[in-house]
Amino acid sequence: MTRHFIDIKDFTQQQLLQLLESAQGFIKNNIVEDRALLTGKTVTNLFFEPSTRTHASFDLAAQKLNAHVINLNIENSSATKGETVTDTVANLQAMGVDIFVVRHRERVMREIANILKPSVRLINAGEGASSHPTQAMLDLLTIQQCKKNFNNLRVAIVGDLKHSRVARSTIAGLQILGCTDIVLIGPKNLLPDDITFVTQETDMKTGLKNTDVIIMLRIQKERMVSGLIHNEQEYIDHYQLNAEKLAYAKKDAIVMHPGPMNRGIEITDEVADGPQSVILQQVRNGVAVRMAILAGKF
Ligand code: NCD
Repeated sequence: MTRHFIDIKDFTQQQLLQLLESAQGFIKNNIVEDRALLTGKTVTNLFFEPSTRTHASFDLAAQKLNAHVINLNIENSSATKGETVTDTVANLQAMGVDIFVVRHRERVMREIANILKPSVRLINAGEGASSHPTQAMLDLLTIQQCKKNFNNLRVAIVGDLKHSRVARSTIAGLQILGCTDIVLIGPKNLLPDDITFVTQETDMKTGLKNTDVIIMLRIQKERMVSGLIHNEQEYIDHYQLNAEKLAYAKKDAIVMHPGPMNRGIEITDEVADGPQSVILQQVRNGVAVRMAILAGKF
């Protein structure tokens, strides 16, 4: 039993389903008692990497549960003077912070967890290229809302899988929930060698055949050793999701993207804003999922 939310693999199928149900509850009911679940608690958002959706939705989710929220501006913090992340956390813990929400480019979550008092909780808001479990939960909630169950789904994830923490966590979550047909599509040098029980394809037509769910990913230039993408136009020609390539998938396939999108690169406007896109539904679900996680509903 863990009080932290560091890795989706720490949880059972039952726990993940319970969390999804609780998030769905936050969407449906506006229960008055729920609004007070974090009364008197302090949540700190520590984002050592850029963020729009994740940061704003954690902020909003904590406020909706009536917590005090500290949003530390890292660029103006002592991190720029050489303070270690664990020292920053230890100092905020001394001020009485109850829940830390942390995003960092390095694998620091377990190290942070080790210095926390038993009553203090840690939520991973994105760790290097390895994990992003709250994004996985909002992806899973969106898939559940659109497709009901996970057993008979074929899910394609397209793009820079090598550097994607979203893909790693979402795949792990899908597998815990019983999805066995996951296909990763991208050029050979952007496909990962550390993700198991999935198939890999370099061709969109073959890869997208019969898919129910398509998750598009951004090229993560900031995590890349240079030279992995030789020619952007070639990438666009082969892997950009446009109307023509979308037609390879099932007629009722949904299109997802964790954001930020690079329109005109991995996805066209027509598809991003089209009827099969559930990209903003994902964002909406992000607030409810983070409320459930902050409230410890797992
Ligand atoms: C992603 C991230 O930061 O891992 N965005 C997000 O949290 N929704 C994906 C990305 O940066 O491409």
